[in-house]
Amino acid sequence: MDDAGHVSRKTVLRAALAAGVVVPSALGLARATAGAAPTLTPSCHDGDDETPPQIEGPYFKPNSPLRTVLATSNTPGTPLTLTGYVFGLACKPLANVLLDFWQADDNGAYDNSGFTFRGHQFTNAQGVFTLTTIVPGLYPGRTRHIHVKVQAPNKPILTTQLYFPGEPRNNTDAYFDPRLLMTVHDLPPRSKEAAFDFVLDVQQGPPGPGGGTTWTPGTTYKPGDRVKYNGSGYVCLQGHQAQQGWEPPAVPALWRPE
Ligand SMILES: [Fe+2]
Repeated sequence: MDDAGHVSRKTVLRAALAAGVVVPSALGLARATAGAAPTLTPSCHDGDDETPPQIEGPYFKPNSPLRTVLATSNTPGTPLTLTGYVFGLACKPLANVLLDFWQADDNGAYDNSGFTFRGHQFTNAQGVFTLTTIVPGLYPGRTRHIHVKVQAPNKPILTTQLYFPGEPRNNTDAYFDPRLLMTVHDLPPRSKEAAFDFVLDVQQGPPGPGGGTTWTPGTTYKPGDRVKYNGSGYVCLQGHQAQQGWEPPAVPALWRPE
């Protein structure tokens, strides 16, 4: 690992998410070990953790099936479940992100006539994806890897590859990048589970005017609250209960345009 800061940042972020507001209940995973959650504040204020791109390689095929499961219990190979988040640059999870995975089978062969070990899916509302597959086999010239294209709605496609720790060929594969190492654990008796979080080049600024909340009569506002009214944003100056006739533009003593 030549990038320990990268890993620890993601580890902290994952722990914070697991312990905080955005709890993805489906991710009650062994790897999100509750007792080990540090109490640090997630720190992510720039884009230096963006997931790096990699070459597509010769075996991508468009129009893969929509599915998260690429292997069954009868599929030859070591069962592997890969889960993770897709984040934007502000480290907030991104929903509805397309992930299109493709990989070799247990023998290191790609299915170029059909769609075996090919599938696309979308992150859920919590920004989480799950892929059920097998550990891909090795083929000449490469270390073990999984290909993926990741695309947030209306954003550019990130094409990259994910790698397995401890693979001897990681040292000799010119494409290998430690920033793309998954965290992989054995899941006895014969399975493995892996985790990887993507960080996409997607700006995630503060909410727009009004903070995304619409002014509503009957609501009690306190100084500093932000609302939207008729498309404009306002900041509350004095605590009060909103009522008809006290619309933000009509009462400058209560609301300041922003
Ligand atoms: Fe490949």
